[in-house]
Amino acid sequence: MAIIDHLLAHWKTFVLAAIPLIGLYLFQAFRSNDINFDQYADFPQPEQPDKSRGHWPWIEKSASAGDPRRSFDIILYEQAQKLGFPPVLLVDWRPMESFVILFILNNSVAEQVTKPSKQYSTSVPKHPAMQDLAPLVGSRSLVTLDGEEWKGLRKRILPGFQPQHLLSLVKVIMDKSQLFIEHLEAKAAAGEEFRVDELTTNLAFDVIGIVTFNMDLNAQVPGKQSPVLLTYRALQQAYVKRDVAKHWLRRYYTENERRIRALDKKLDNILKDTIRKEHAKLMKDDATASRSVAALSLHGIDKLTPDILQQTSDTCRGFLFAGHDTTSLLMQWTFYELGRRPSSMKALKDELDDVFGPDPDPSSVMAQLSGPRNGELMGRLTYTDAIIKETLRLHPPGGTARLAPAGSGTTLVLPDGKRLVVDGLVLSPMAYVIQRDPKIFGETRDDFVPERWLGPEAASIPESAWRPYERGPRRCTGSELANMEVRVVLACIARRFDFIKVGLGELDADEEGKPILDEKGYYKTKSTIFTTDQVTAKPVDGMTMKVRISDKTKSLE
Ligand code: HEM
Repeated sequence: MAIIDHLLAHWKTFVLAAIPLIGLYLFQAFRSNDINFDQYADFPQPEQPDKSRGHWPWIEKSASAGDPRRSFDIILYEQAQKLGFPPVLLVDWRPMESFVILFILNNSVAEQVTKPSKQYSTSVPKHPAMQDLAPLVGSRSLVTLDGEEWKGLRKRILPGFQPQHLLSLVKVIMDKSQLFIEHLEAKAAAGEEFRVDELTTNLAFDVIGIVTFNMDLNAQVPGKQSPVLLTYRALQQAYVKRDVAKHWLRRYYTENERRIRALDKKLDNILKDTIRKEHAKLMKDDATASRSVAALSLHGIDKLTPDILQQTSDTCRGFLFAGHDTTSLLMQWTFYELGRRPSSMKALKDELDDVFGPDPDPSSVMAQLSGPRNGELMGRLTYTDAIIKETLRLHPPGGTARLAPAGSGTTLVLPDGKRLVVDGLVLSPMAYVIQRDPKIFGETRDDFVPERWLGPEAASIPESAWRPYERGPRRCTGSELANMEVRVVLACIARRFDFIKVGLGELDADEEGKPILDEKGYYKTKSTIFTTDQVTAKPVDGMTMKVRISDKTKSLE
């Protein structure tokens, strides 16, 4: 009786408390994809699905055909070769996951997902599971939003990423690259092995902090890292510990989730504080107002509404997520590929000599890039650009996942004219496979050949067959920043340091200890370095290498 009295007295509290629980239930129900698989019976599939386990037996078989740590991109590419590169591949991984995926392995089909259409003005919507990453990417950021809200935000953000504007920030990119170079000098002097990912990720964080929200993250200075960086890293660590197998209602009250929420709030508060200060400076026409992407996005905004503040804070968080790993991976693979193909290394050094003169010291390059001719100098780095493009072709770090809403009648047309209604499916263009399509990249599809982007051959490669930044309206916002950063880094260090892979992917050597060239002009390796899935596809060993001062530089010292 006492319990009933208590319930009656506090019914409002119970109803209010139940609202989030109902919300959680609905969210979960929405996620569980109760699809009738028969409707897709004529879609290309790797094999007949098992009645209760869908294509899991195939996934298990495929994964166990090599090192089980290798990333799904690699596994799918191996299978695509066996299956003769079908344009799409339907994979049912229920009941382990609550959705069915259509992997898209053909460039013209991928294009239909990412280009705007009458049905979808900003291309097929992103998969709502993207919101699961909200603590890392921001729930209302450029990465996660869709529709009109996304359009408005994108319009505010885009001016900050224009090439001309970024060129004006080359100086700050170089300041951060200077620290990176100092770390490399120290590693070269010590002659020790190290994980390149640690250095390149810190550099990428530093550049993003300065360029996008004018904050010195100090990622490269141990003991001095900024609260934003420390909080973001702590958030990442807590996030990967998330027990995804647990129903999220039960997970909600665990200590780790409480920690995620506390860190999430802390990060939000710091970012909002910075944004408020920047906005106040703009309002006062203060000359010290920064020219960061976030500050530029506030121009013309008289009132910093809670909505704009939240979007901007979440978008800064989205930049931290979207830009650090990806750019870092691009640098790691560039160093690796250059170390394997001496002819590319030579062509790069020749180009740098030609553009910046014979002095290989990073300070000489930096002095020139700090001057008014920086745009012209950067524009002449055509082979450097081809190296970056080719590295991203072979090693795209991530991709996108879209969802064709149930009942939308979303239709994809395959190269043979067959039409597939893809309602209810996750649509996932697989850049890794598309960018190695034998019909387009032929015999050399697995080889690092920057020249393919420079000669007449380049014209025969369809633009849609290169999509590491994805394409269409939701294409990567930061591609120009990443490209500029890597160009600056290569220009400064390619003639100063040699990168030597150790462990997986290490070069083979003859009796005199010299590397051995194969018939295609690549140094032979003792083993193959591969990626593993950790949100993005990362070299399994963090790209362990040694650096040494290059012979040319030494002879000048
Ligand atoms: C080599 C480096 C990079 C690669 C390969 C890369 C790749 C990608 C890809 C594939 C997407 C599409 C994701 C999707 O559609 O779901 C994307 C989106 C995005 N990227 Fe990048 N990215 C890189 C660097 C950066 C940098 C440096 C920044 C900013 C600091 C950045 C900011 C973004 C943002 C904001 C989006 C979301 C765009 C939207 O949905 O409107 N990225 N990136």
